[in-house]
Amino acid sequence: MAAPKRAVQFVCQVCGAVTGKWSGRCESCGEWNTIAEETAGGGVGGGGALRGAQKGRVVALVPLAGSAPEAPRHVSGIGELDRVTGGGFVRGSALLVGGDPGIGKSTLLIQAAAALAGTGRPVVYVSGEEAIAQVRLRAERLGLAAAPVGLAAETSVEDILATLTAGPPPALVVIDSIQTLWTTLVESAPGTVIQVRAAAQALVRYAKQSGATVILVGHVTKDGSIAGPRVVEHMVDAVLYFEGDGAHRFRVLRAVKNRFGPTDEIGVFEMTGTGLREVTNPSELFLGERGRSSPGAAVFAGMEGTRPVLVEIQALVAPSALGTPRRAVVGWDGSRLAMILAVLETRCGVRLGGHDVYLNVAGGLRIAEPAADVAVAAALVSSLAGVALEQDCVYFGEVSLSGSVRPVSHAQSRLKEAQKLGFVRAVVPEATADDEDGRIGVKRVTALSDLVAAVAAG
Ligand code: TYD
Ligand code: MG
Repeated sequence: MAAPKRAVQFVCQVCGAVTGKWSGRCESCGEWNTIAEETAGGGVGGGGALRGAQKGRVVALVPLAGSAPEAPRHVSGIGELDRVTGGGFVRGSALLVGGDPGIGKSTLLIQAAAALAGTGRPVVYVSGEEAIAQVRLRAERLGLAAAPVGLAAETSVEDILATLTAGPPPALVVIDSIQTLWTTLVESAPGTVIQVRAAAQALVRYAKQSGATVILVGHVTKDGSIAGPRVVEHMVDAVLYFEGDGAHRFRVLRAVKNRFGPTDEIGVFEMTGTGLREVTNPSELFLGERGRSSPGAAVFAGMEGTRPVLVEIQALVAPSALGTPRRAVVGWDGSRLAMILAVLETRCGVRLGGHDVYLNVAGGLRIAEPAADVAVAAALVSSLAGVALEQDCVYFGEVSLSGSVRPVSHAQSRLKEAQKLGFVRAVVPEATADDEDGRIGVKRVTALSDLVAAVAAG
């Protein structure tokens, strides 16, 4: 008789795809050398293979209707953080905070933990990456050493859960980071998809059962996905990304998923020598030092969630020595730039084929709004023509492939923010109403070619 075969499966450590045989390249995500052997079964929901069939427990079914009190939240008191979570941490929810190593996740969360603990709520901070002394050193540097946060340096999920369930549930538990945790439930090494998934599952279940808010910290790979545990994103109630680049002090906390709040809000912070400082007026920051006017700079009146943000868009258009001219973009979508260049060429007669084009969004902000089209086009034409735009003017509007300028949402908020910051002119799409206070001179454009003509004329 053949011995019973051990169930073995092969799991991609990047995307979590499961296959029956090993291969050098994952069919699902295309990554090389990421497939590893795992023992099948184990983990939550897959335990049957190891432990033998068990009879399930009867779960009481309840009607849809019923008293569901407004999700109670723990307000951290850090305004920019509470804005992104949708008004505070929801009790019993699990959040994933992702970001590149060194961006400031631990700093942000120790500050949040201390702020919440300061309001008298029990808070636990579990560090799997740093020793107690390191976390204490950081807390000292941030001036938070006196905050009543319960601190542990631990990586075993079982030990963490035993500790958490030993007393009354805390209001907030921070796990820094999920990639360092391991559980004996599954046999893989720490950091593998299987481990991270099992650990996250156990902690999410703890959050739901105890009513504590659990924050999982996760590192992000170069391509922007949380390294390994892509799966974790689906398990948690909210996914927040902490982004920014090393060259700038500014950090943006962005919700990419939130079951209890909006996903288009951002929180803006500045990294200082004593931790993260909230930036309540990001426009002043992204406008930067606007000295003398120079060609190629246009101020875009944008929206980040419900908040208007003014940001300078800088373009450099220079004759190219290359057969294929360069197009480089920082902070905006490269294919969107290609589209604007094509519209300028085809609809407005602006010849850019022999020029290198560089586009940069000041301050390290990343813009996703199509409303920036008009500002980008204005910056490009201004640079090409060598004519500076009016310094006291803002731009917004979406450009269609036909070359027409289309209306965008929140025009009044954009105009109001511009007025608040001392701008007196705005170039806007046709259908836009006047500024409510009437203090901004509104110039409406229907076609991009009108704008090009106006800019080129100086
Ligand atoms: P950290 O929170 O450890 O990042 P992460 O947890 O995302 O890996 O932040 C590390 C960086 O932040 C490090 O380069 C130093 C800088 N920093 C400051 O500039 N000021 C501070 O007060 C602190 C605590 C960190
Ligand atoms: Mg850290």
